[in-house]
Amino acid sequence: MSARNRIRGFAVLVLLCAMIFGTAKPAFAADPQQSAAPSAATAADEASGTLYSARGVATCMKCHDTAINGPDRTYKASTSIFQTPHATKGDARAPFAQHDCESCHGPSEAHVASHPAPGQKRALPAVVFNGPNASPVSARNEVCLSCHQNGLRMDWVGSQHQDNNLACVSCHTIHVAKDPILVKATQPEKCFGCHAEQRALTLQFSHHPVREGKVVCSDCHNPHGSAGPSLLKKVRVTDLCYGCHADKRGPMLWEHQPVREDCTNCHNPHGSVNPRLLKEKVPFLCLDCHAATNDMGGVGVSVHSNAPGSGSLYLYGDRSCLNCHSQIHGSNSPSGSTFFR
Ligand code: HEC
Ligand code: HEC
Ligand code: HEC
Ligand code: HEC
Ligand code: HEC
Ligand code: HEC
Ligand code: HEC
Ligand code: HEC
Ligand code: HEC
Ligand code: HEC
Repeated sequence: MSARNRIRGFAVLVLLCAMIFGTAKPAFAADPQQSAAPSAATAADEASGTLYSARGVATCMKCHDTAINGPDRTYKASTSIFQTPHATKGDARAPFAQHDCESCHGPSEAHVASHPAPGQKRALPAVVFNGPNASPVSARNEVCLSCHQNGLRMDWVGSQHQDNNLACVSCHTIHVAKDPILVKATQPEKCFGCHAEQRALTLQFSHHPVREGKVVCSDCHNPHGSAGPSLLKKVRVTDLCYGCHADKRGPMLWEHQPVREDCTNCHNPHGSVNPRLLKEKVPFLCLDCHAATNDMGGVGVSVHSNAPGSGSLYLYGDRSCLNCHSQIHGSNSPSGSTFFR
């Protein structure tokens, strides 16, 4: 690197720091002399002949530091990205430590050099992420996965979202200070855009406090893919629920079999018109499994002889069976075999 370039590199570093810490608007357009060589055009890139813009972000900022009225739509200024981790020059893995804007939009010389006649379209950048000119989903995702195919994305390939051709940017927004999908208060709205049924359920009388911003979809789901069913973060539903409802974990002296099997035997995790997220009201919920195996409908046979129709106050009202079988998730009492205590 020549001494001149080194000085330029330093100038850009100072400028980017200023932008990241929110003090200055980029001044590239105003003073092109101040801007610099691309941050880290590697020998490999040079050898392959790939053409990245000579002055990286400074090149793009000649035009994109303000809003642009394009032939198809209006484009916002592209400056908010400087407030995100992607612009951290000091992080060698970050786009702005590599080819700046073109780490994501691809080498875009043609776009930069384009001189369209009035009303004509400019040559596109190598990768466009949204709008009418968007590149194919596979091309867009390849960019993101080139840096992010790890951690949470281990099971992306073959996941329901990948199978249905979702782009990373179906959920993520890059040119904002804070991506709304990463914020509890704004994440669900994005998911509801495609999952209307879950929106309706969270509006029910009983619901996990999703609308209240205390629980989010990604507390239970990994939208990038999972080894379990329904993109759940745990292979078994029970393990997922124990994560926040530890008192239900057991083991108990007396287990209620359907509880150990799967909490969704009785609960709908997203919402319900019944109290406590129950799929059905008690006693109907219980009778789904127990009507055929005991004396529920009988008269004068046992403790349940005064089952529905025979007049016991205990079998009616909101609690019904729970008036007596109150420890429905299992019991640790020596005499709790029927979940009385
Ligand atoms: C000389 C001005 C100029 C420069 C330099 C420039 N652009 Fe653009 N860019 C535009 C204009 C104008 C548009 C609006 C679309 C059009 O006019 O065709 C645009 C549109 C875009 C779009 C949206 C394309 C679409 O169809 O939705 C992206 C992405 C983009 N530019 C990225 C870049 C990147 C990355 C760089 C730097 C490598 C860059 N631009 C440099 C003028 C410029
Ligand atoms: C050149 C590598 C690179 C590319 C390409 C890239 N990223 Fe990143 N990304 C990073 C690094 C580095 C970070 C910050 C460190 C971290 O969180 O691991 C980051 C952070 C993020 C974050 C967390 C942001 C935050 O506010 O905490 C999200 C979300 C993200 N990237 C999504 C994407 C998406 C979607 C794409 C494709 C449009 C993409 N990235 C392309 C390297 C990259
Ligand atoms: C269906 C919506 C959705 C899609 C599609 C999606 N993401 Fe995410 N992404 C999320 C959510 C929600 C979070 C927050 C996860 C959390 O907090 O557990 C997230 C978090 C992230 C993060 C930051 C957390 C981390 O892992 O460091 C990165 C990076 C990221 N996603 C990259 C990607 C990439 C790359 C793709 C495309 C292959 C992608 N995402 C596709 C919803 C999505
Ligand atoms: C981490 C990847 C990444 C980097 C780095 C990046 N972009 Fe983008 N760009 C995107 C994605 C994804 C979109 C789609 C809209 C969004 O998510 O904000 C986009 C959209 C755009 C658009 C269309 C405007 C719009 O409102 O949709 C322009 C213009 C653009 N980028 C220019 C730039 C410029 C200039 C830079 C460098 C300062 C840059 N981008 C850096 C990923 C990136
Ligand atoms: C408390 C944990 C939890 C939360 C929070 C949660 N889910 Fe779920 N979700 C589940 C479980 C468990 C299943 C599997 C349901 C089953 O097998 O009956 C599921 C299933 C799904 C399904 C598959 C269809 C279905 O209902 O079986 C979709 C789609 C879904 N969830 C979307 C969402 C969205 C969107 C959000 C955020 C608004 C969200 N979930 C929040 C636990 C949760
Ligand atoms: C752009 C549309 C879109 C967005 C945004 C989206 N999804 Fe999906 N999701 C789909 C499609 C399409 C499927 C597959 C078809 C289906 O099962 O509905 C799916 C499947 C799922 C499934 C698995 C359903 C099953 O039966 O196995 C879950 C869970 C899920 N999404 C959760 C989420 C969460 C959580 C978010 C937000 C972080 C989200 N989705 C955002 C479109 C979307
Ligand atoms: C991320 C933590 C978290 C996970 C995981 C979780 N829950 Fe919850 N759950 C909560 C919170 C928070 C509440 C509200 C507690 C309150 O209001 O006191 C709640 C409340 C409930 C309620 C009572 C609802 C009402 O209307 O009173 C039931 C039932 C429930 N959860 C079942 C489940 C089941 C079943 C699962 C697994 C599919 C699960 N939860 C997973 C956090 C979680
Ligand atoms: C056999 C049906 C059934 C199964 C299976 C079941 N529950 Fe429940 N659950 C109930 C009933 C009935 C209530 C209401 C109890 C009451 O009001 O006294 C309830 C209430 C709750 C509550 C709120 C009140 C409390 O006790 O904290 C939570 C949380 C809960 N269940 C979590 C779970 C978890 C976690 C699982 C899986 C490990 C699970 N449930 C499995 C029937 C069931
Ligand atoms: C998904 C099916 C299912 C549901 C719903 C269900 N149970 Fe059970 N229950 C079982 C199974 C299976 C057993 C263990 C096998 C057996 O003894 O019949 C059991 C055992 C019991 C026992 C102990 C039986 C014994 O022989 O000691 C009682 C009491 C009981 N359940 C009450 C209830 C009540 C009250 C409800 C409603 C809140 C309910 N169950 C809901 C499946 C269910
Ligand atoms: C007035 C109190 C009371 C109410 C209300 C009640 N039970 Fe029971 N239940 C008992 C007693 C007492 C036993 C026998 C306990 C023993 O033998 O140790 C029993 C036993 C059971 C058993 C295990 C034995 C068998 O008959 O298979 C099941 C299952 C059961 N009840 C389900 C229910 C269901 C479902 C409801 C609601 C429709 C209900 N019970 C309402 C008192 C009650």
